[in-house]
Amino acid sequence: MWPYVRPVRVRLFTAAFVAILASCLSLVIPLVLKWMVDGPVADRDPGGVWLGALYLLLLGIAEALLFGFRRWLVARPLAGVEASMRADLYRHLQRLPVAFHDRWASGQLLSRGTTDLMLLRMFLAFPLTFLVVNATTILVGFVLLFAQDWTLGLVLLAPAVPLMILCSLFETKYSVVARRAQDQVGDLTTVVEESVLGIRIVKGFGRHRSQARAFRALSGRLRTTELGKARLLAGIWGLITSIPELAIGAALVLGTIQVADGSLSAGTLVAFLSTALALRWPVESIGFLLAMSQESATATDRFFEVMDVAEEPGAVTGREDAPATAAGMVFEGVEFRYPDAGPDTPPVLAGIDLHIRPGETLALVGGTGSGKTTLTALVPRLHEVTGGRITLDGEDIATMERSRLRELVSVAFEEPTLFSATVGANVTMGAADADEDQVRRALSVAQADFVHDLPQGLETEVGEQGLSLSGGQRQRLALARAVVGEPRFLVLDDPLSALDVHTETLVEAALRQVLARTTAVVVAHRPSTVMLADRVALLSGGRIAAVGTHQELLRDSAEYAWLMSGAGGEDGDGGPRRTEGARADAGATGRSRHRADEDEGLTARRPGEGDDEDGRNAGRRVRAEDVPQQVPAEEGSAR
Ligand SMILES: Nc1ncnc2c1ncn2[C@@H]1O[C@H](COP(=O)(O)OP(=O)(O)O)[C@@H](O)[C@H]1O
Ligand SMILES: [Mg+2]
Repeated sequence: MWPYVRPVRVRLFTAAFVAILASCLSLVIPLVLKWMVDGPVADRDPGGVWLGALYLLLLGIAEALLFGFRRWLVARPLAGVEASMRADLYRHLQRLPVAFHDRWASGQLLSRGTTDLMLLRMFLAFPLTFLVVNATTILVGFVLLFAQDWTLGLVLLAPAVPLMILCSLFETKYSVVARRAQDQVGDLTTVVEESVLGIRIVKGFGRHRSQARAFRALSGRLRTTELGKARLLAGIWGLITSIPELAIGAALVLGTIQVADGSLSAGTLVAFLSTALALRWPVESIGFLLAMSQESATATDRFFEVMDVAEEPGAVTGREDAPATAAGMVFEGVEFRYPDAGPDTPPVLAGIDLHIRPGETLALVGGTGSGKTTLTALVPRLHEVTGGRITLDGEDIATMERSRLRELVSVAFEEPTLFSATVGANVTMGAADADEDQVRRALSVAQADFVHDLPQGLETEVGEQGLSLSGGQRQRLALARAVVGEPRFLVLDDPLSALDVHTETLVEAALRQVLARTTAVVVAHRPSTVMLADRVALLSGGRIAAVGTHQELLRDSAEYAWLMSGAGGEDGDGGPRRTEGARADAGATGRSRHRADEDEGLTARRPGEGDDEDGRNAGRRVRAEDVPQQVPAEEGSAR
């Protein structure tokens, strides 16, 4: 906390000092009262009473002015503290490894960045100062009380001990509930966020009732927790207000008896009682000040839980230099295990040895879940390899500055993510210094010329996550983003899955020129995409099962032939029949392809309709067979 508060410490201390001054001024009022009662009132001197009233008025005004001054002192700097903490949190979130974001619910992060920081600011502005101010006021007040009459003072002091015990009990209990409430706010935020982002699924499956039910359940839980908090607060508040009240009552009785005995002046009793009454607020407010402090302590914990997670490791220096490897992209005995996977589970990738020569394009083929996406994420270091190394032109990526690595390598992922910005901004994210010409070229490589037909062309704002565009359009923009900077190394994770056959053919033709100039890894599911590559690597169960040209693999690897031909191998595309072991993946592969295709209402060509040697149509046929109910419609549109 201190680093954030440090810059405003002078202001905070000044503010506390001003508040103490103001608070003590209010304690002078009883002394004026005493002077009035024992002096002018006893002497029946109206002039003196007026003078006393004037003093009281001035004191009141001074107190109000001082409190206003305090607020002015702290308001602006504390808003600054909140803003800088929030900025730090955001910056930190951007630098945390992907594995962190895999693990944490976004709603939890959101609520920490908003509600919790607001609680913290309120704590710094109010309870922090007032806990000090009230403690000082109470202390000064008791000194005054004891100076006036120490027996009565003792009567008032008596409840202090039980009150302190109660307060500490309250605080332990309250901290537990406060933590629970704030965590639940995070969970609630997650649900809201998910159902807003997933609104299409929610509506499409008619899940709005069950979503609403889930939300109600969570908010009901939060309500119960909040009520628990309120109950605790009400309990302590009741005790804190009534116990001193009783003590004041007792002091009043005792004092009246003493005045009747003549051992105490009426003025002293008035002063004593009004001091006691003036102390009531500082004592009573301690209850909710403690509650607020507890909440902000929880908020601080929650804030630093995120801030204390280590950022992505930078470049590893001083790693012993293994003999320089050849140029191009080289995987040497790469092993990878997800950080949250159990230690006894097999690694997702193991013993990956690949050499992609400069200018070469390697297609990566494998069943669903074989680790293709994972492998591509290792190159831009979205995840760190857990064994072996990856080198780019002989340089280990672990020893590279991250910014340089990401300049060298460009990526497009399976799930194209766009940001709520203009189309142009989304594309130039791939290379900040790209000029208009480069953008135009990238768009044409990705066959994303539909951009020019958008209402404002490149300046069109795409909605959150680009949801106002079709899946294929999004994918093409993501592809344009990947190629705009003409990177040395290109990593594409199935970048054409959502395109119709014709667009795909066009993109492939254009992409071929880009690929000729870079070293690339392209995850491919279809023979047509594979044809872009010089060589193909077959990934099976996290290992490279075979490397070779498309034809070689078709001849030598039963699994590859099967993956490329799909379930409909009987048309005879020269490859061997499928193997039993590989069959398990068939449905999954076919389905995932089909899902992607729906986006653009893809029409599958029927068998025999312009088949070519590379078996493209063999791959297409899978879908038609997987989804028989679609065939009639597709036939209709084909005519
Ligand atoms: N963030 C993650 N945490 C843990 N396991 C993961 C994560 N992402 C993927 N996996 C697992 O790693 C394996 C490979 O996944 P992936 O690389 O996405 O496969 P592919 O892209 O070949 O379909 C799968 O078994 C998947 O369950
Ligand atoms: Mg994948």
